[in-house]
Amino acid sequence: MAEVVVVDAKEDAGALVADEIVRLIARRPDAVLGLATGSTPTPVYEALRPRLAGVDVSRVRGFALDEYVGLDPAHPESYRSVIAREVIVPLGLDPDRVRVPDGSLAGIADAGEQYERDIDAAGGIDLQILGIGTDGHIGFNEPGSSFASRTRVKTLTAQTRRDNARFFASIDDVPRHCITQGLGTIARARHLVLLAFGAQKADAVAAALEGPVTAMLPASAVQLHPHVTVVVDEAAASRLRLLDYYRDTWADKPDWQGL
Ligand code: PGA
Repeated sequence: MAEVVVVDAKEDAGALVADEIVRLIARRPDAVLGLATGSTPTPVYEALRPRLAGVDVSRVRGFALDEYVGLDPAHPESYRSVIAREVIVPLGLDPDRVRVPDGSLAGIADAGEQYERDIDAAGGIDLQILGIGTDGHIGFNEPGSSFASRTRVKTLTAQTRRDNARFFASIDDVPRHCITQGLGTIARARHLVLLAFGAQKADAVAAALEGPVTAMLPASAVQLHPHVTVVVDEAAASRLRLLDYYRDTWADKPDWQGL
């Protein structure tokens, strides 16, 4: 089962996950990170910045989960821009080693399979950071997504477009389509780290971890993965039935074990 860690604050989650990433890079200087966008992973990237100062990250590679289709890559809310601004520049990564799915309309038919080939050529993703949508999506795999899905174009749900309208001037500016790693792509990452903060995520987190495994709740795919860490604040954890057990497990965890 997933290891569930309940933290007091987002900053604690950021520190916990950043420490694990630092250990990974120490072990494997050409580590392959799966990068998420949105508000959730920000504390991880912020915590990584001081921890990576002085660390050689020149060989670290990264693959973003998803991108909007048809949005100018130079738009500040394209995930290419977000990854550059929030990850590549502050952490000093080599821009040539960090990939984002190509959401430009020219070539979109082949962009998904090209991305799969690029991930495979890098040796697969070592640690995949994930947020979770209020509708239970991971990446932009909306409800109904196949557990075997690969990187491909998806249509965003009305809920996701409303959730993401805060990043745009108006909801009409939120793209309708995205290109996202599939649930099958995410499942191949060697370690999944799912983060969620706030009461608005509590139902999705509980359904993902303790509900039925179903394509209707794409994040429930994590139940099929052998190595999952879930880091949540008290509000996002509030609907979990096994909460006391998760707390006991974390409190009794041996120091040597890592995440
Ligand atoms: P958020 O989005 O981090 O902005 O809440 C999460 C997601 O949609 O995966």
